[in-house]
Amino acid sequence: ADSYPNIQRGSQFSKLTAEDIAYFESICPIVSTEKGATQDDLESFNTDWMRKYRGQTTLVVKPKTTEDVSNILKYCNERKLAVVPQGGNTGLVGGSVPVFDEIVINMSAMNNVRSFDAVSGILTCDAGVILENADSYLRERGFIFPLDLGAKGSCHVGGNVATNAGGLRLLRYGSLHGTVLGVEAVLPDGTILDDLSLLRKNNTGYDLKQLFIGSEGTIGIITAISIVCPQRPKSQNVALLLVESFEKVQETFVKTKEQLSEILSAFEMMDINSQRLVRQVTGKSHPLKGEAPFYVLIETSGSNAEHDDEKVGALLQNLMEDEIILDGTMAESEAQVRELWTWREGVPEALGHWGGVYKYDVSIPLSELYLLVEDVRAKMSSLGLLSTPENPDNVVVDVVGYGHMGDSNLHLNIPVRGFDKRVEKALEPFVYEWIQKRRGSISAEHGLGVAKSEFVGYSRGPTELAVMQRIKNMFDPNEIMNPYKYIKA
Ligand code: FAD
Ligand code: MLT
Ligand code: ZN
Repeated sequence: ADSYPNIQRGSQFSKLTAEDIAYFESICPIVSTEKGATQDDLESFNTDWMRKYRGQTTLVVKPKTTEDVSNILKYCNERKLAVVPQGGNTGLVGGSVPVFDEIVINMSAMNNVRSFDAVSGILTCDAGVILENADSYLRERGFIFPLDLGAKGSCHVGGNVATNAGGLRLLRYGSLHGTVLGVEAVLPDGTILDDLSLLRKNNTGYDLKQLFIGSEGTIGIITAISIVCPQRPKSQNVALLLVESFEKVQETFVKTKEQLSEILSAFEMMDINSQRLVRQVTGKSHPLKGEAPFYVLIETSGSNAEHDDEKVGALLQNLMEDEIILDGTMAESEAQVRELWTWREGVPEALGHWGGVYKYDVSIPLSELYLLVEDVRAKMSSLGLLSTPENPDNVVVDVVGYGHMGDSNLHLNIPVRGFDKRVEKALEPFVYEWIQKRRGSISAEHGLGVAKSEFVGYSRGPTELAVMQRIKNMFDPNEIMNPYKYIKA
């Protein structure tokens, strides 16, 4: 494909025939050029959220049941037809769209809650349930989904599990490796693996579901999940703070943990560049009047509003008195809670405004978390690529850092006026080598997809990669599942 000049279509894969199409149509709804669909009809399945990755599928299948998925995969495996599992297509590494003509198996028609136990808080649902719908279902019952992220209105819970999404409250509720209790998955040969456990504890053998969490559609299709959900907090506070240096952001983090302890549910960092871009794109005025290099969003979730208000109020007062922060504001209504969150959750969308964005999702020890942004900025500046007041049309709009500070997870983003080889050459392998030197992760929460697959060696050793390859070969010997992606040893 033109989009992927360095990747060859696997010669082992068959091409779709009219007979194949007829078979899939006998199983479930399909979208196919053979059946009159236009390229426009297929566009949203072929293109990712950032409009950076584009495939050329001519067929999308929409299974309604686990049996449908089983029949589809069994057939594809026998016919050596490559496939891409697709959830809400909000992934940020090009994993959810085809590279060439792989069949898209879109999970949106499998969208039912299967059961909920209000005593244990365990929810079991189809993989294609949209995260926000799962959370609304739980809200009505006094519970909350233990994962939240900006793409909640579109992403699927199955996609979340397949990417092991981290999100905004990992600090509080932990990783999906802990909260997901079970997975129902279909293996490439059509076998249905029923590991849909409702148990917190089960040490009888290998924990197979863990392999599917973060496997990005490379070893099977997740058709259902069970997950333990916490009680919905009765009281929620959000504060937005202005901080003059990254040292002070770290001090703020320490003080916040000390004073808020069990009620802290998010600690997010945004740099000034990210806030300026959101302001520019949305035209809104920022809730904090002055400007400073860093902004911190703190959220608490608890059960006693009076107690929580008091704690957050005291924290802000102490942070101001000790001159750790320059300013701060606390939401006073639910509407204000949402408004303050838009200054964090609105960052990814604002970044795409100028024509393209290079995204890095890294994890490194906290003390050096922001240094990466400064080093990349200096590099872009020295190469004359960064926009300045004198040269406002330079290709690099800005170098931006934000992320889940509470989890040592930085999002380094370089919004550009158009994808540009000079920028790419400056970024890679520079960023990966920088991370490797600090024994960090080149993919903290977004996964590998097609974007990061060739760089896994910067964060994983040859022995680890060899074992991963063996796992892949065992599940998917014909390599039909999401080819050209994930790990390239
Ligand atoms: P898709 O994008 O459709 O797929 C992602 C990958 O999973 C693909 O490889 C696909 O093949 C595979 N897959 C999907 N469904 C299945 C299935 N049922 N079985 C097997 N494989 C499957 N991520 C974070 O970790 N934290 C964040 O805070 C965060 N915020 C985001 C904010 C925005 C605005 C956006 C656009 C994305 C964000 N993401 C974040 C990226 C994140 O990976 C996705 O939003 C989400 O987890 C993907 O779910 P999805 O249903 O859209 O999956
Ligand atoms: C976020 O934290 O906002 C997401 O991971 C998305 C992104 O980094 O763009
Ligand atoms: Zn994130």
